[in-house]
Amino acid sequence: MIANPLTSAPPLASVPSASSDFLSDVIAGLSSEPRTLPCKYFYDERGAALFQKICELPEYYITRTEIDILDRYRAEIASQLGPNIELIGLGTGAGTKTRILIEALEKPAVYIPVDISEKQLRKSTALFRKTFPNLEIQPVCADYLQPVALPSTRHKAKRNVVYFPGSTIGNFEPDEAAMFLGRIANVCCENGGLLIGADLQKDRHILERAYNDAKGVTAQFNLNLLTRANRELGADFDLGRWRHRAIYNSSAGRIEMHLVSEIDQTVHVADYEFRFRSGEQIITEFSYKYTPEGFTALARRAGFEFARMWTDDARLFGVFYFTCSRGR
Ligand code: AVI
Repeated sequence: MIANPLTSAPPLASVPSASSDFLSDVIAGLSSEPRTLPCKYFYDERGAALFQKICELPEYYITRTEIDILDRYRAEIASQLGPNIELIGLGTGAGTKTRILIEALEKPAVYIPVDISEKQLRKSTALFRKTFPNLEIQPVCADYLQPVALPSTRHKAKRNVVYFPGSTIGNFEPDEAAMFLGRIANVCCENGGLLIGADLQKDRHILERAYNDAKGVTAQFNLNLLTRANRELGADFDLGRWRHRAIYNSSAGRIEMHLVSEIDQTVHVADYEFRFRSGEQIITEFSYKYTPEGFTALARRAGFEFARMWTDDARLFGVFYFTCSRGR
């Protein structure tokens, strides 16, 4: 979460690693009913590499569709955002999408990428500095779910625009999503905006194929959570006894990812013992899919007004621009 955008922070300021909470989150999640494991722990080194592979799978339409939309409507998007903006990118990763956007923008003043992976941030910042030598770039290494102090900048922009691509907003529960967007609205304030990608509701077969790919990469990605718990917490999940499952819950409008126990079994994590019955499931991720109206209503709860949505011909994915009139 972003706090006061005017607080100074050194570039690449480090934050404590999320892994210090891993044990308590796993114990709490496995003790709850239904059992859960938080999806934020998918992204260790192997998990991040597997996610990268997912993004390139033929069944996983999300990444390529969002890129195609940006590419096709780059001029319209840039004119909607306007000249001389401060662009704050949340979790923009390697920066493929941001690069398309910045290339199209009219005289952007500042770019502030916020990313939890220092390695990724250093790499993409070096690349962006080379590609856009006249653009002020102020990277911030931080978990954007926590309060983040944004650096003061040399160039004064006309407005702040937060860019949150990838439909990561879908991995929040709707109430959490509204709260998170509300914190973003504090950064955009008067006159600012939010450019955000959200996956749209569609035929369940397209959705279920995207999360049950033929090569089993998503299954590996899901099961890697247990591998990580074994390695980092000394847990004893037997990887051969758990199976990936992803289904679309149409009444809730979300893909639900589970790990299913194949037998009656007992798992140890630190001093705790967890008994699972055959067929019992651990929920590992929800990925909400929205209608344009539903997503607009969510953003409105956070103080945003709908300005535009760009989509592909099949209306698989939406790139939304919302404006914010809220004062500081
Ligand atoms: C990161 N996030 C938007 C992905 C999604 O589609 O919800 C994570 C993912 N889970 C399985 N495949 C991809």
